[in-house]
Amino acid sequence: MDTLRATFAEARRVLANDGTCWLNIGDMYAANFDGYARGDTYNKRQPAVRPRSRRIVPPKNLLGMPWRVAFALQQDGWILRNAIVWSKPNAMPQSVLDRLSTRCELIFLLVKQRFYWFDLDAIREQYTGNRSLSHRTRRGGMKLNAIQTPWPPTGMPEPASTLHGTASRSNGRAIDAANRNGRNPGDVWTISTRPYRGAHFAPFPIDIPLRAIAAGCRPSGTVLDPFSGAATTALAARQLGQQFIGIEPNADYCALAKARLQAAGEKRGGGVTPMTIEEVRALPAVVPLLTAARALGLSRNTAYRLVKRGEFPCRVVQAGDTYRVPTIEVLRILSLDLSNVEEQVG
Ligand SMILES: C[S@@+](CC[C@H](N)C(=O)[O-])C[C@H]1O[C@@H](n2cnc3c(N)ncnc32)[C@H](O)[C@@H]1O
Repeated sequence: MDTLRATFAEARRVLANDGTCWLNIGDMYAANFDGYARGDTYNKRQPAVRPRSRRIVPPKNLLGMPWRVAFALQQDGWILRNAIVWSKPNAMPQSVLDRLSTRCELIFLLVKQRFYWFDLDAIREQYTGNRSLSHRTRRGGMKLNAIQTPWPPTGMPEPASTLHGTASRSNGRAIDAANRNGRNPGDVWTISTRPYRGAHFAPFPIDIPLRAIAAGCRPSGTVLDPFSGAATTALAARQLGQQFIGIEPNADYCALAKARLQAAGEKRGGGVTPMTIEEVRALPAVVPLLTAARALGLSRNTAYRLVKRGEFPCRVVQAGDTYRVPTIEVLRILSLDLSNVEEQVG
């Protein structure tokens, strides 16, 4: 919590006054067993006294971490504008039997001041269904969903004088329930995870930063991701023509991010077909360089260039003219289960 607060204090310092800050954060449960009940022989390093956090949130509790962070950031001066539910239709199954499995995370939209850059039109969605737009733009009455006047002819605007109730404003302008450019995407985003578009243990789908940047960043703006990881945000920023600055302490992820950006740059000239989880898991213990590259989403050219510079994100073993990569290293970067694999290359 303290680290996040400190990080976001710095983010606030460098953020444009009319800029937006989007924070994706998942929740977690307090560990079920921590060994404290088992006495000193269980773990010699365990403190004599159970840490305070254990007493505040006993085992099995949902920590509510996203909201704890959001409230702390509010205290630090941020204005919290949205708590978006990222619903994952393909979330990993969980083996729990006494609660519901977790299939969502939160994304907070935070700003520095009351008025800020927000281009809703950039992220509007197509309407579904077959109702005409004139009926969709119908204004409500005093009661929720009430319809108190006849429909205006299709395509004809209703005069402000016929508007009433909660739907009219003192300035005579209607509050439209729908917009001709599409509908507001709302605060529940149903987006599948895409574990193989990045080769990092938890890259988020690019649709998330694409939306955040399209709505929340001025044209020719600069996007900063202080938890850059495999640089999904950078890819989104580039797609939208924005500058990007990423901060990432893990050198492996930095190398991967660099490679991923290079590969994305080359994709126009011949894309990489990503491997499925099953294909990666079925790989032998040592694979040719290009197989490893494909598993990581890197093109042939990028792979060879990185090898030449000594920057390929995994260890590469040269045997004569060929390059080979221990699969265990690929799996480590992809954060897949290593239990079935033994390293066979010294
Ligand atoms: C969940 S990943 C982000 C993945 C990224 N959104 C993507 O799609 O590639 C979080 C990243 O934050 C980095 N990180 C963790 N703790 C950090 C800290 N205290 N300061 C800066 N970065 C940190 C980790 O190394 C990790 O790469």
